[in-house]
Amino acid sequence: MDGARAVSARVRQLLELPETQEAYERLCSEVERHDRLYYISYSPEITDFEYDLLYKKLKDMEEAHPEWRVPWSPTQRVAPPLPKGTGFQRVRHKAPMLSLDNTYDMGDLSAFDGRVRKALHKALGAPDAPEAAVRARFGYVVEPKIDGIGIEVVYEKGIMVLASTRGDGEVGEDVTRNVRTIRAIPVRLAEDVDIVVRGEIFMPFETFRKLNAARTASGQPEFMNPRNATAGTIHLLEPAEVASRRLGAFFYDVPDAQEDYYSQTLKFLNRLGVPVCPDIKKASDINELKEIVAWWENRRQDLPFPIDGLVVKVDSYAHRQILGFTSKAPSWAIAYKFRAERATTVLEGIEYSVGRTGVITPVARLEPVIISGTRVARASLHNWDIVRSLDVRIGDLVVVEKAGEIIPQIVGVAPESHERRSQGLTSPVVVPDTCPQCGTPLVTVHSASGRDRQEHTQVRCPNTLQCPGQIAGRLEYFVSRKGMDIRSIGPRLIRRLVDAGLVRSFSDLYLLSEEALLELDGIQNRSASNIVNGIRISKSRPLHRLVYALGLPYTGEVGARTLAQYFVSLDRMLMSPSLPDLPDRLKELDGIGEVAARAIDEYFDDVHNMRELSRLNLLGVSVPEKKASTGSLAGFSFCITGRLSRSREDVENLIRDHGGRVVKSVSGKLDYLVAGERAGSKLTKARKLGVRVISEDELYALAGM
Ligand code: IVH
Repeated sequence: MDGARAVSARVRQLLELPETQEAYERLCSEVERHDRLYYISYSPEITDFEYDLLYKKLKDMEEAHPEWRVPWSPTQRVAPPLPKGTGFQRVRHKAPMLSLDNTYDMGDLSAFDGRVRKALHKALGAPDAPEAAVRARFGYVVEPKIDGIGIEVVYEKGIMVLASTRGDGEVGEDVTRNVRTIRAIPVRLAEDVDIVVRGEIFMPFETFRKLNAARTASGQPEFMNPRNATAGTIHLLEPAEVASRRLGAFFYDVPDAQEDYYSQTLKFLNRLGVPVCPDIKKASDINELKEIVAWWENRRQDLPFPIDGLVVKVDSYAHRQILGFTSKAPSWAIAYKFRAERATTVLEGIEYSVGRTGVITPVARLEPVIISGTRVARASLHNWDIVRSLDVRIGDLVVVEKAGEIIPQIVGVAPESHERRSQGLTSPVVVPDTCPQCGTPLVTVHSASGRDRQEHTQVRCPNTLQCPGQIAGRLEYFVSRKGMDIRSIGPRLIRRLVDAGLVRSFSDLYLLSEEALLELDGIQNRSASNIVNGIRISKSRPLHRLVYALGLPYTGEVGARTLAQYFVSLDRMLMSPSLPDLPDRLKELDGIGEVAARAIDEYFDDVHNMRELSRLNLLGVSVPEKKASTGSLAGFSFCITGRLSRSREDVENLIRDHGGRVVKSVSGKLDYLVAGERAGSKLTKARKLGVRVISEDELYALAGM
């Protein structure tokens, strides 16, 4: 027989149990135990096949004897879906769920240790020092900082009765139905105690990769990271879907712990069957802390779940009590955040990328390396000043850094490059003098860009109208998500259309026929009609999307909305050059300054641009902008803070779509602060100023969704 299908004597014995209530309960406990072994200790004793047999036997028994069924039975984890539009009930935590102060280096960690020792020394030296604290042994517990979402689970007599998200720390959402489906979290504890436990639910890397692959295959957008995927999952209305995503969980806090030391509480949690993170270590001084940090820095890549640092906590509860809390974090704990991960690899060459505005940027081609679990073969060098200041040469060993979702970057040349250089294995990076796309001699400009408005040397191709690189760049921007959002067209197809001479301008896209597309190699009937359809549908995008997609100077998403509100329709926009005082009028709009107003005015002065706009208008591209004053959020300003279940960008767009205004900072004039998980200083400030604070769900309710 096939090994995976063999059934051990032990499992066979369980399968042959008689149909009695006692046997049912035994089977129930056995399946629970195997869930724990699989999902918590990662050390299953039986095969998946054997597990399925036991599970089926349990289910069969329950069907024959529904009166035996217990709510904590492993078969009872998944409830039916909630109707669409249902919100999660808000729950106030009995005690606030605090956050942690962060440190990023040993110096800060050492300072934390100093503060803790000084405060304890002072308090314990006083004549009225609490007896328990004087007797307590001093030490730290160090554990991974799980990168998931905070959760609180309440057990009564050992049975899970409530699970809620951390929310803003004071009020979270009741997600019990979904948490029940997480097999890593027991529905029944090993002892029938009343206890509140707090921890983190997360998505293991492997599940995350599979989930994203499945989403891509079915045309849904990928989740950016496991944390977002976890937040999205725990807010699903369908428990069966939550179950299939296989979230994990670790617990690290018992607000009402009865033990003397946290390390004892962790042992107790273990005994109850509550999952606790592996490899938790103890330290008694800064040197031991340093060793533990170094140990984790080496190991973090190998973990199957995401962590973003370590948490150092004072072990004795009596000592914790003396140390106390600040407004948002305990003074007895600190998070040590890992630095971005780095790797050393060979710079194999430089590619010159031509952007939509003609700027040529150097892109590093690397010998592929794995950093933070992803393969990195290219890295941004941003601009030529950086190439110069790094003094990097082709063939050098370079240090590449990747932090979270950020594009990998070259941060320096590894010292070993000396040898390669002296052996003549390297060559200088040259700034090109002709455009790699069209051969036109390049011009060098010095301009200020980026958030810091720093001067950069830019090399630009002046062949704005003809350069295929720029044409393709503009078209890519036009069809992008924030622009006309034409998903049937990607960068590769654009390049082919440009190279085949089928498309040069935006309006050419709307004139593309299926027949023309079929001329291209490998494009079949179905995809041709898909592409043409996608383009046609984009004609009914609102004006602000078109304004963004056109790539007007100084005009990002917010500016595009402002301009679209002002012009209302493409028709009216076409009349703008006849307005003699356009720059002055533009300057009066929110967020448009002198320089931008002049540049936008020049855009409308350009005959090519105007010709293109009127072509688009004749083709019926874009629909007039809805007046903001008509939306359900009109007249109100919103500021967003903390983690939300959707991306920040989506929520901002939703507010604007409903006529609301999004602002970046909290002031007394602000109407609403939308606070998600882990809201910090903005929330504190809003509370102080008396600004109304609402949850994400309340926002949707206000918007009438
Ligand atoms: S202790 C009062 N331990 O990180 C105790 N938190 O940035 C506060 N987190 O809100 C939490 N792993 O959601 C603690 N091992 C760990 C943690 C951890 C992840 C999260 C938690 C907290 C946030 C603070």
